[in-house]
Amino acid sequence: MTAAAIEVRSVRRTFRVRGGLLSADRNIVAVDDVSFAVAPGSVLGVVGESGCGKSTLARLILGLLPPTSGELFVDGQRITDMDRRARARLIQPVFQDPFASLNPRRRVRDIVGLPLAAQGGVSRAEVASRVDAILERVGLARDMGDRLPAQLSGGQRQRVAIARALILRPRIVVCDEPTSALDVSVQAQILNLLAELRRDFNLTYLFISHNLAVVEHVATEVAVMYLGRIVERAETESLFRTPEHPYTRALLASVLTPEPGLGVPDVGLGDSLPDPANIPSGCRFHPRCPVVIDRCRHEAPGLTQRPTGIVECHLAPGAAVNLQVKDRLVAGLGDR
Ligand SMILES: Nc1ncnc2c1ncn2[C@@H]1O[C@H](COP(=O)(O)OP(=O)(O)OP(=O)(O)O)[C@@H](O)[C@H]1O
Ligand code: SF4
Ligand SMILES: [Mg+2]
Repeated sequence: MTAAAIEVRSVRRTFRVRGGLLSADRNIVAVDDVSFAVAPGSVLGVVGESGCGKSTLARLILGLLPPTSGELFVDGQRITDMDRRARARLIQPVFQDPFASLNPRRRVRDIVGLPLAAQGGVSRAEVASRVDAILERVGLARDMGDRLPAQLSGGQRQRVAIARALILRPRIVVCDEPTSALDVSVQAQILNLLAELRRDFNLTYLFISHNLAVVEHVATEVAVMYLGRIVERAETESLFRTPEHPYTRALLASVLTPEPGLGVPDVGLGDSLPDPANIPSGCRFHPRCPVVIDRCRHEAPGLTQRPTGIVECHLAPGAAVNLQVKDRLVAGLGDR
């Protein structure tokens, strides 16, 4: 059996945040008992409001952050046991702001070649020729190699970040909001480039974005996060056509009413933003859920298997619940 490209098993990550003079320390649950697997060659889109744990999940998968509990595997190998250089050959990041992630004092050629040079045992000539090849592959002219990041446009900088991520020919690329800092016209070029590279290099992507239209375009499967948990996961087409979790429905509805200029969906669920230091009892979405039932306030829903994924809601078709109540409520949901 082929190993999953990424496998996350019961992973939890908490942060202890020190309180001020008058406030107590807070324990933030950023990722809460999350499990999933991504098949080689797929693109798992991860969506959810700010603070729901997307970047923490990305950093856990990249091995930049250890889990508080649980295990993570990349290409069948446990990340926590993996040597840093071996991990770099398997999995690489592309972050939102290439300006922040590129050393401003280094020339593009050195930035892109560094992961390869750091592996050791590669001649300077070999590094130089692989840098030239990957720069060309991401659409940067060779003379760009002599420039500093400040001498490039936003789109060119993100191409440099992609070249640096790909020079080791990794199997997996974790993209955390890779186009959010770019102009709309440039976003499409970068998304097309990422799609081409995935095909050519047989890559698997974890693709985090606030922009649902982008996720619908690039992802083969989508995970919806809420307060540290994946509350629904499904193949992209089915998630966008028949979302089953009330939160997914609210997110998708928000596409029609975006906050101008913010790029962050207004999910239309009021302004009682969830607090990861104070996770509600029962279903963690219950204070905002438009179809909450009494049971939701004290009993956390389990996972229900659906034809193309999973959903975590007492009212999900197939979930164990009083069927009459469910029929009534699901009919109501369908009308929304
Ligand atoms: N190093 C840290 N120390 C303390 N708290 C943290 C740390 N990193 C993340 N958090 C907290 O964990 C929660 C999840 O953060 P995370 O950055 O993963 O969210 P996100 O979904 O990526 O949000 P955004 O969409 O704004 O990027 C937030 O409440 C955040 O404040
Ligand atoms: S379990 Fe209850 S509160 Fe949670 S999403 Fe489903 S209906 Fe809403
Ligand atoms: Mg983030």
